[in-house]
Amino acid sequence: MILITGGAGFIGSNFVLHWCALNDEPVVNLDALTYAGNRANLQSLEGNDQQRFVHGNICDAALLAKIFSQHRPRAVVHFAAESHVDRSITGPEAFVETNVVGTFRLLEAARAHWNTLQGADKAAFRFLHVSTDEVYGTLAPTDPAFTENTPYAPNSPYSASKAASDHLVRSYYHTYGMPVLTTNCSNNYGPFHFPEKLIPLMIVNALAGKSLPVYGDGQQIRDWLYVEDHCSGIRRVLEAGTCGETYNIGGWNEKANIDIVKIVCALLDEMAPASARQVINQQTGKPVEQYAELITYVADRPGHDRRYAIDARKIERELGWRPAETFDTGIRKTVAWYLANQTWVKGVIDGSYRDWVAQQYGA
Ligand code: NAD
Ligand code: TYD
Repeated sequence: MILITGGAGFIGSNFVLHWCALNDEPVVNLDALTYAGNRANLQSLEGNDQQRFVHGNICDAALLAKIFSQHRPRAVVHFAAESHVDRSITGPEAFVETNVVGTFRLLEAARAHWNTLQGADKAAFRFLHVSTDEVYGTLAPTDPAFTENTPYAPNSPYSASKAASDHLVRSYYHTYGMPVLTTNCSNNYGPFHFPEKLIPLMIVNALAGKSLPVYGDGQQIRDWLYVEDHCSGIRRVLEAGTCGETYNIGGWNEKANIDIVKIVCALLDEMAPASARQVINQQTGKPVEQYAELITYVADRPGHDRRYAIDARKIERELGWRPAETFDTGIRKTVAWYLANQTWVKGVIDGSYRDWVAQQYGA
């Protein structure tokens, strides 16, 4: 079996769902169910014994020791993290705790387990650490995209904590010979994305007639990858990656934030016209005709990275992986998913979500 951490979050839940759809190998899913974890993401697996859910924290060494000795996983895929840059600016400590200390505890538990293995089982064991392109810092408009050799230059408490965890993982290969793999991926989007991140926030706010807050001049560039492609990239690295190596995973899809917001608005105009839904602009009290009317430029994020871009040629060359979706196909699926899953959206927009939105965006 394999051990997944953070499998009730956005990417982890997509990974667990696809894993269970594609093969029979059992999954133990360890998740602390923070504000970002949601068991509703895994509802379609209810009654399916292939996934065993454990509610617990990756910082809990005793729990980790128990899970490893009870389940004896052949691999760990480590998603659990605090993942939102804006939250890392207002409250960095949780990022150090989970992303650095938690990854360290998980590595220690995995090492103790790996040391009990022998022969082929020991050689086949894998620890795959899921990380981000944000560890490489920011690019100027004409800089080449990040490769696996780009020096680390993290700029936010989030990316700094992920960089620290990447370094710890690397050290376990060099020091102990533990069979680790690291993936550094660009911005994901798709089903089950918590609506504090750009794309789902824009969909949810637009449908409610709320303003669409674009930070600064909206010209910051991100490389966007459909979440299912990220999951297939991770499966490929797990199956065929070379231990001790890192693999960049990206969508070859650089877009400015303002263009992303306009694309989302245009798709909503087509798929859920504001006039038909009688959407009222919450600022003016007037009916919304086109969702782009709601775009509002707001104060920039402190230390906002200007551009991320992933050079994903290594994973293509060495492992034959390329994304299956273009941005056009992926974003259309995503908007359709949010329209079809309004009950899920209502479920996550609870009291603590509203507190975060009030704190971050004010009235
Ligand atoms: P997420 O915030 O949606 O989910 C994180 C999950 O981890 C949640 O289910 C949460 O309950 C769980 N978790 C948090 N702290 C925990 C702890 N101490 N113990 C156990 N579980 C804990 O995050 P995501 O967007 O799904 O990201 C998953 C991973 O992928 C992260 O490591 C992130 O750095 C990385 N990543 C994300 C993106 C992206 O665009 N979202 C891109 C590249 C890499
Ligand atoms: P986000 O989804 O938070 O991902 P990350 O910061 O990890 O890239 O943000 C994506 C981009 O969108 C980033 O440049 C910040 C910007 N952004 C806004 O302009 N407005 C918003 O309300 C949010 C949440 C993000």
